[in-house]
Amino acid sequence: MSSNDPNQGGPRAAWPAGRRPRVLVTQAVPQVALDLLQTFADVDANPDEGVIWSPDELRAHLPGHDGLYCLLTDTIDAAVMDALPELRVIANMAVGFNNVDVEEATRRGIAVTNTPGVLTDTTADFAWALLMAAARRVAEADRFTRAGKFHGWGPLMLLGGDVAGRTLGVVGFGRIGQALARRARGFAMPVLYYDLHPVDTALEQELHATFSSLDDLLAQADFVSLHVNYTPETHHLLSHAQFARMKRTAYVINTARGPVIDEAALAEALRTQQIAGAGLDVYEQEPAVHPGLLALENVVLAPHIASATIDTRNAMATMAAQNIQAVFANRRPPNLVNPAVWPAG
Ligand code: GLV
Repeated sequence: MSSNDPNQGGPRAAWPAGRRPRVLVTQAVPQVALDLLQTFADVDANPDEGVIWSPDELRAHLPGHDGLYCLLTDTIDAAVMDALPELRVIANMAVGFNNVDVEEATRRGIAVTNTPGVLTDTTADFAWALLMAAARRVAEADRFTRAGKFHGWGPLMLLGGDVAGRTLGVVGFGRIGQALARRARGFAMPVLYYDLHPVDTALEQELHATFSSLDDLLAQADFVSLHVNYTPETHHLLSHAQFARMKRTAYVINTARGPVIDEAALAEALRTQQIAGAGLDVYEQEPAVHPGLLALENVVLAPHIASATIDTRNAMATMAAQNIQAVFANRRPPNLVNPAVWPAG
């Protein structure tokens, strides 16, 4: 361990050439990752597809590992790191890494990595799918048809909201938010975006996007889509006051992280039709979904699958394994989120 000083970090001593590290993989993941890991490491992997280890089960599997390949369903905190005194890398197979105590890992000289970029389009596609599904009541219409309620075309049947030409509000204008704005071009939608800083003018022009305060965006947008990281600053970014600012005809889309929205406040805003609808892929207490949401027709509920395509999951899996491979080859991992442990150069 490089230092106990929280402000320091820094890489651990070089990994000995020729020594095979032991790597723990906490869920059943795409085979490409296991194939790559097995070329340089002894791998212990949760073999049971769809089985997420409880914190106790995870703790029981930890001892003796030098590398950890984990998922956003694993809470990787100081207690987990205490059980892994030799740990050198925490490779999260996700772009978000709010499930990892990065500060604590940095203090211990442990590299933390994520999988950015490879899931951008796939996630934006799914945000768009939720937007369309919420506006045009796709999931509700499917339930209606299967329930045998379709007795003929009706001029008042399942009326939704238009998408083309309406204003898209993008909250968090990073890779995925920008990719969503790019999709809106095909629907001739003006885009308002909110972030800490504006992007450059050329990109704004390309995406027909205008920098906005959050309050103005909420008041003007017909669709509000969330693409921020989950941090203490973005906890409950949308709550009662924000829903009250929105148009009654507006929709909220969340493919970021659940706790960015106050779920009880959203359920209330949807129930009272303070806003028209929502499309959600993420929840405050996953895998639990607020009972108030489950009871409503005007919200589309997906089980956190925005990046779930075969190619994208293979790409994420490969990237996570490559990050681990780099660490045990004494190379700076390409997707390091705590650069203090491995200064560039
Ligand atoms: C999924 O939610 C991810 O962060 O990759």
